[in-house]
Amino acid sequence: MSDLLIRVEGVSFSYRPEDSTAPLALKDINLTIARGEYVAIIGHNGSGKSTLARHLNALLVPTRGDVWVGPWNTRDARCRRDIRRTVGMVFQVPDNQIVATTVEDDVAFGPENLGVPEEELAVRVREALETVGLWEERRRPPHQLSAGQKQRLAIAGVIAMRPECLVLDEATSLLDPQGRADLLATLRRLHAAGTTIVAITHHMAEATEADRVIILEAGRIALQGTPREVFARAEALERLGLDVPPVSALANALHRRRPDFPADLLTVSELAEAVAERWTEAVP
Ligand SMILES: Nc1ncnc2c1ncn2[C@@H]1O[C@H](COP(=O)(O)OP(=O)(O)OP(=O)(O)O)[C@@H](O)[C@H]1O
Ligand SMILES: [Mg+2]
Repeated sequence: MSDLLIRVEGVSFSYRPEDSTAPLALKDINLTIARGEYVAIIGHNGSGKSTLARHLNALLVPTRGDVWVGPWNTRDARCRRDIRRTVGMVFQVPDNQIVATTVEDDVAFGPENLGVPEEELAVRVREALETVGLWEERRRPPHQLSAGQKQRLAIAGVIAMRPECLVLDEATSLLDPQGRADLLATLRRLHAAGTTIVAITHHMAEATEADRVIILEAGRIALQGTPREVFARAEALERLGLDVPPVSALANALHRRRPDFPADLLTVSELAEAVAERWTEAVP
């Protein structure tokens, strides 16, 4: 089995392919995602994040180029079921994803449709609800849940189908800080258990946990690398109109004044360490 789960090869996409003057939402994107990788995709409004995400489970099919999920080409309609079983999507607004009158029935809906037998269904529902921390809420109507709980419910519904890969399109953007922290903890757990994660976000700080950060700009990949590599390039990020996490911004600013100060710091403790090491030199 190849360790590449997704291959995006020379993909361009137009929402109006019949009109050759229409702008391309994606322009010649090349990208591979390995099994078990955690990838964050960042970019400002209209940069093509959602369009790219929808290509990863065949909700959209390229105008040019190909997307492969495992052995399957997303153009091949016969493979759609396998592709959607492999790559699960979670969207920004969880209300649109709620289908049943209790939390547990909602989670059961997807796997039931896949034909999972009843006994295994119960096991999967429990496992999914425990993973997202909603087992205690299983008998409640979904509409009574908080926004953060609803978003975790949507994730439970997807992970009950046991996808190899979870794609989240700004799944944290409507959550309060606690809801966001809980969701990120859930992603961390899933990733540790081997799930491939593709998280699309506006928030730089959320990308620090990823193995790789990909920055989209006007339908192209503008910058990619580990979070450390990407955040060390504050000027490039600012040119792209993106916010830099505060720790990285401060490290970059210090690096500009004192080139021996490292620009590629991600955490408060790394920053404190680097400052403390130079403390005596800093005081004249
Ligand atoms: N259904 C659609 N029909 C036509 N054009 C679209 C459609 N959806 C998106 N677009 C255009 O395609 C481009 C990429 O949009 P996309 O939604 O992928 O960006 P995004 O990075 O997800 O933006 P946001 O941060 O606002 O979610 C934009 O120019 C957008 O206007
Ligand atoms: Mg979007």
